[in-house]
Amino acid sequence: MENSTVRTERLELRPVRDDDVDRILEYRNLPQVTRWLLRTQVDPASFRATWRRAAADPDDHSMAATLDGVVIGTVSLKAVDGMGQPGMPPRTEADLGYIFDPAYGGHGYATEAVSAVVAYAIERLGIRRITAGCFADNLASVRILEKVGMRREQHGLGDSWHAELGWVDGYTYALLAETWHREAAPQEQPNALGRP
Ligand SMILES: CC(C)(COP(=O)(O)OP(=O)(O)OC[C@H]1O[C@@H](n2cnc3c(N)ncnc32)[C@H](O)[C@@H]1OP(=O)(O)O)[C@@H](O)C(=O)NCCC(=O)NCCS
Repeated sequence: MENSTVRTERLELRPVRDDDVDRILEYRNLPQVTRWLLRTQVDPASFRATWRRAAADPDDHSMAATLDGVVIGTVSLKAVDGMGQPGMPPRTEADLGYIFDPAYGGHGYATEAVSAVVAYAIERLGIRRITAGCFADNLASVRILEKVGMRREQHGLGDSWHAELGWVDGYTYALLAETWHREAAPQEQPNALGRP
């Protein structure tokens, strides 16, 4: 695999390893974590197998976010085909998701990690469109998606099943690479003469 380590101001992002899974399981099944997830409780053995499959899948670019060497969350990124007629370039879209340990919540780490993975997907993997779905009432997730520059493309009325709430609304967000370059990519600082 090419060098897929990404450093941000406070975090390092790198592929998820087998020995990360026990650490991830320390928070993955907490009620405040599962509340707005489609896959709620996970059983450790199949969870580990899922991460092993992901590590072996060339289209899976998910990463662990580490703070001072401790895994505090994961950002999943899976390259997929868009829809299209014959001749369409494959694997130009990617689905994005994220789960963070609430013990580290509220410090902007998830936003920092998701922004970095979006930049990685566009700049290093050549992804042209990133999508993410969430329950409409998952306000922290909505906030992250909007802060990283994604746009709400769909508000699905009653399209999503929640184990406690029944049918609730869902959102689909997306971001085109060209929009990201224009509006959300980190801007180069002007030099002393004020020129870009
Ligand atoms: C979603 C999640 C990653 C957010 O983690 P976090 O540590 O709160 O993230 P950050 O600190 O980077 O930023 C969260 C933003 O949401 C806001 N936020 C958090 N909780 C909120 C709430 N209940 N209502 C409104 N805004 C909220 C924060 O204020 C912050 O925005 P700000 O920087 O403008 O103030 C975390 O809660 C999580 O892992 N949840 C469980 C899994 C999940 O739902 N994943 C997403 C599935 S779509």
